[in-house]
Amino acid sequence: MSSSTPAQCVGPSYRSEEQKPTATVSTPISHDNVHILPQTPQLIALLTMIRDRETARADFIFYSNRIIRLLVEEGLNHLPVIEHTITTPIGRTYSGVKFQGKICGVSIMRAGEAMEQGLRDCCRSVRIGKILIQRDEETSKPRLFYDKLPEDIADRWVLLLDPMFATGGSAIMAVEVLKSRGVPEDRILFLNLIASPEGINNFAERFPKLRVVTAFVDKGLDEKNYIVPGLGDFGDRFYTM
Ligand code: URA
Repeated sequence: MSSSTPAQCVGPSYRSEEQKPTATVSTPISHDNVHILPQTPQLIALLTMIRDRETARADFIFYSNRIIRLLVEEGLNHLPVIEHTITTPIGRTYSGVKFQGKICGVSIMRAGEAMEQGLRDCCRSVRIGKILIQRDEETSKPRLFYDKLPEDIADRWVLLLDPMFATGGSAIMAVEVLKSRGVPEDRILFLNLIASPEGINNFAERFPKLRVVTAFVDKGLDEKNYIVPGLGDFGDRFYTM
């Protein structure tokens, strides 16, 4: 486990650096295909809420959804756009852009399903597929149990959704499934709330053309493969606790 814990002053610019609180910020990652959200006071405050074991389920959902929204908005920035000039109601032209191509979401069940609404909130009527991967009792390796993907997925950009990236076994298998259905690696965007440094480095090296957008890279993993300091079991906290 990495021992360095980067701390940084966080807060608005009207306060001097000495007056700002310090907070732990994301572990830096040197792979160009990993994009960590800017470590703003807002994001750090939202992450503090969802990491807190005292946070009740309703608040956990609310604050997780705010981070998911930030991830989706940043993920959409990685999609291609083309020039698009329009005329405003006062008859003036504006040279802008519009999205090019089709997208879909794919959630890794069950925790990834928590990110579907955030995607729907940004992309009306977006198609969403699902992949269920679980540990095989006999081999202890991840196994594909179920998938339901848009039939034309090979023609789409795929936003792959999973909030917690620990060892990455499920995400790696999910990417292999997408590739086997004809989705080129460079058309996959993996959206994630919290990652382990070992997991995300391994993933970024294995799939150099795929892009990862994450809110935070934590310190490491514990002996049970929970992310440290993490937030516990995301699915349990979002769906049941
Ligand atoms: N999945 C979780 O929900 N939490 C972790 O810490 C790791 C995997």
